[in-house]
Amino acid sequence: MNVGGEHYRTIWLKPGDDRVVQIIDQRPLPHEFVIEDLASSDAMARAIKEMHLRGAGLIGAAAGWGMYLAALEAPQSSFETFMAYLHAAGDKLKQTRPTAVNLEWAVDRQQREIASRAQTPAEGVQVARDTAQAIADEDAEFCRRIGEHGARIIEEIYEKKGETVNILTHCNAGWLAFVDYGTATAPMYEAQKRGVPIHVWVDETRPRNQGARLTAWELVQQGVPHTVIADNTGGHLMQHGLVDMVITGADRVTRCGDVANKIGTYLKALAAADNGVPFYVALPSSTLDWTICDGVAEIPIEQRGEEEVKFIQGLHGGEVKRVLLTPPESPAANYGFDVTPARLVRGLITERGVAAASEAGLLDLYPERR
Ligand code: MRU
Repeated sequence: MNVGGEHYRTIWLKPGDDRVVQIIDQRPLPHEFVIEDLASSDAMARAIKEMHLRGAGLIGAAAGWGMYLAALEAPQSSFETFMAYLHAAGDKLKQTRPTAVNLEWAVDRQQREIASRAQTPAEGVQVARDTAQAIADEDAEFCRRIGEHGARIIEEIYEKKGETVNILTHCNAGWLAFVDYGTATAPMYEAQKRGVPIHVWVDETRPRNQGARLTAWELVQQGVPHTVIADNTGGHLMQHGLVDMVITGADRVTRCGDVANKIGTYLKALAAADNGVPFYVALPSSTLDWTICDGVAEIPIEQRGEEEVKFIQGLHGGEVKRVLLTPPESPAANYGFDVTPARLVRGLITERGVAAASEAGLLDLYPERR
């Protein structure tokens, strides 16, 4: 990913100090670019919970590195006490955000790898470090492949239309939400590289405005033509033929193809279905939850603090400020995610290709899950 012409990932081990993990702090973006040092598993848990970093893939990678930090701080006197500490740290990390399944997946993968490959705490630290790096590298590579599969769909639309392809996206499923490339954005970047003219409608994505603040910033860095729109604009644009496709990310996808994503995604999918606009969801396999089918009934939906709805953040007089939008006494509800039923999804763009949003479609791509 590109920040002011320089290549960055969103999370990495600090050069010269391998007891510290560095991240891009997403809170002051797009107005300030800040790199934060995290030196303990508690600091990592706080960074996930308070959304210094966010996005399904990045939360997974952060959990992987959080387990490495836990391995460094764990008692080294016996393997049993070392593992007990790691289990407690894993539970703490898992409790930070409930909806993105990547978090649980990364903690469980670390615990499995360490238990099966290490016999001493020192070996455990090394396995935790290798596994955290592998999770991060895999996330970046899977997103790159998602870009290739998704770009093909954009090219096909361009071949038929012969003009700029208009893509609508919701929230931020860009490189900031992963380790690199992103999911919803990866096909856009790849299409741009292949010379396909695109334009992106960016939903602002209340309440935290990840679209207006983060996706728009990424698209500026990548030089992709885009327009930020208020969340309620998509339906109108679709009715007037101004959207050729929708691509969103996902925080959890069930084995039957139901998609949990940022609140408001479901409404975009309904509008897309009503207007015959293809609605795609891009995700790595670490976002698939094979244990459940009915997303509406079974995916836990995070409810966040009401201050995200009541306040809005922006630049004023050269400083990032928060201002109150509502009467102070009005209560607010803040459901973080909603579930889009599989029937509204044209295809799931994964690292292995594009699957139909159904159990059969996913099993075709992931036969080892049969
Ligand atoms: O609350 P957030 O910012 O963690 O929301 C999650 C998301 O980033 C979105 O739902 C995104 O579209 C999918 S995660 C790549």
